Amino acid sequence: MGSSGQLQDRVALITGGGGGIGRAMARVFAESGARIVITDARDTGQAVADEVGGSFLLADISDQDETRELCRRAIDLEGRVDILVNNAGLQHISPVEDFPEDEWARLVQIMLIAPFQITRYVVPGMKKRGWGRIINMSSIHGLVASPYKSAYVAAKHGLIGLTKTVALEVGEYGITVNAICPGYSNTTLVTRYQRGRGAGQGDAGARGHQAPRRARGDSTAGPVPGVGRRPLRHRRGNVHRRGVDRAIACLPPALWGIGGSP
Ligand SMILES: NC(=O)c1ccc[n+]([C@@H]2O[C@H](COP(=O)([O-])OP(=O)(O)OC[C@H]3O[C@@H](n4cnc5c(N)ncnc54)[C@H](O)[C@@H]3O)[C@@H](O)[C@H]2O)c1
Repeated sequence: MGSSGQLQDRVALITGGGGGIGRAMARVFAESGARIVITDARDTGQAVADEVGGSFLLADISDQDETRELCRRAIDLEGRVDILVNNAGLQHISPVEDFPEDEWARLVQIMLIAPFQITRYVVPGMKKRGWGRIINMSSIHGLVASPYKSAYVAAKHGLIGLTKTVALEVGEYGITVNAICPGYSNTTLVTRYQRGRGAGQGDAGARGHQAPRRARGDSTAGPVPGVGRRPLRHRRGNVHRRGVDRAIACLPPALWGIGGSP
């Protein structure tokens, strides 16, 4: 991967970087010169780290203690985190009355509480250095609901709330906080539900918001502001853009870029 660019020597921590959208973001950031730390509960993250010349930390962020420990390990490894991508996620499809309580809590932990925990840990260093970028991977399900996905939809809506709140708190320190709201991309998160017993309900959920043509994971990395080389080819109307704009409505446009000064 290239070693020069607008993210030269910035350290990017990407959760759930072991495949799909996280892998695509790792490649984009590495091409812009960032040093990449991939973390994932699956050891596929090692291959992605090798591919982009970065490091890999195996960690399961469904566990709060392990998430705290991950934060410590990431800072120990590179000395700092300049760019945090809260990307790890998974789906569980079930009618609300049958939704296992522990599975509901697990999804919310991975996609809302862990992003809060990691944000909490990296913000002090970003403030001290006067530069930071936090990117929260929400979803079209952060803006609209589908049936049978109560945990996912609640976590993704919550992540947008976290994004807006933290953006207000840290904007004056040169730190931007943004949410991305992709539509469907053909990654394991989605294809898992095209097979087996989740398929029927997954399709019902998609009908709930008129799912668009599916994108590949790598086309979602494109819209990362100031980093993607080409615009997103796959949109559901203006959902991606509206999602992003809503999440950062409180920030002046100059704070929206990833590279350079805010
Ligand atoms: N694929 C889509 O259609 C789509 C649409 C909107 C939003 N998203 C979001 O994009 C993000 C990336 O998803 P993706 O589509 O690339 O799916 P993916 O399954 O390819 O990647 C998700 C990654 O998160 C990791 N992960 C899951 N649970 C974890 C845990 N407990 N600890 C650590 N890592 C864990 C997985 O191992 C996996 O590598 C997710 O937050 C997802 O909700 C995806």
